[in-house]
Amino acid sequence: MSASPPFPSDHDRAATVTRLRAAGCVFAEDEARLLISAARTPAALAAMVDRRAAGQPVEHVLGWAEFCGLRIAVDPGVFIPRRRTEFLVRRAAALARRAAPGPQDPARPRAVVVVDLCCGSGAVGAALAAALGRVELHAADIDPAAVRCARGNVAAAGGQVYQGDLYGPLPARLRGRVDILAVNVPYVPSGDVGLLPPEARAHEPRVALDGGADGLDVLRRVAAGASLWLAPGGHLLVETSEHQAPRAAEAVGRDGLIPRVAHSSRLNATVVIGARPRGQGK
Ligand SMILES: C[S@@+](CC[C@H](N)C(=O)[O-])C[C@H]1O[C@@H](n2cnc3c(N)ncnc32)[C@H](O)[C@@H]1O
Repeated sequence: MSASPPFPSDHDRAATVTRLRAAGCVFAEDEARLLISAARTPAALAAMVDRRAAGQPVEHVLGWAEFCGLRIAVDPGVFIPRRRTEFLVRRAAALARRAAPGPQDPARPRAVVVVDLCCGSGAVGAALAAALGRVELHAADIDPAAVRCARGNVAAAGGQVYQGDLYGPLPARLRGRVDILAVNVPYVPSGDVGLLPPEARAHEPRVALDGGADGLDVLRRVAAGASLWLAPGGHLLVETSEHQAPRAAEAVGRDGLIPRVAHSSRLNATVVIGARPRGQGK
């Protein structure tokens, strides 16, 4: 009986690249490397390549996405965290550090209270917890598949995940206590959902993408509820597109928050930030 050839062989590598390239994968070499490192056997690799060639996003095939240097588990049917959202995390982390200096400051030893609303996989909350070290983390999403996925990703930070519509499922004790309300809402205008890449249209749920007629329906509802939950001096951060930003900022300002817009041209990312003035009581 002859021994089976070592896996992965040069032939496995070349065949995987060729198959992915033929299926239209632009980054065939990179994806082949990732799939090969994830597959334990030739059969497992073949199954993964089949799924990718059939159009599933590589992150769903692998079961994870890289986000802020972390491996975030992403189940099939759950929104894949985008690189641009790292900008929201960076802005939120900088504001959180100012809100409550960490345990190294004995005068203010409390953990920063972070809420990741519309959490999807929980990537934003998990990344903030990793960046800040000591947080009280809460996350929520309307989609049960997202909630299941997020529970695994925020567990390391001791985070809680709730299922329901926006603020509805959050515990009432968080009212007036949230330092950072980080929200990546769906913000694609309904009429533009059909223009998204096929991977997003076919493999991410519509509820994760569709923001209503002008893309701002969910954002407006988030903005309208934010001051009830934010601590004085706390911040709402919500991702939007550059051209939606003026209307998004107006919505954030309507409920008593002080709005401003931050943009990263490197990541093509826009975040509207709303500050709850410190002078306001609970
Ligand atoms: C663009 S995805 C963002 C997911 C995650 N925050 C991220 O950046 O990877 C939007 C998420 O909002 C959730 N969502 C949409 N409408 C919602 C609502 N009314 N209440 C709670 N979550 C909602 C979707 O299920 C989806 O997971």
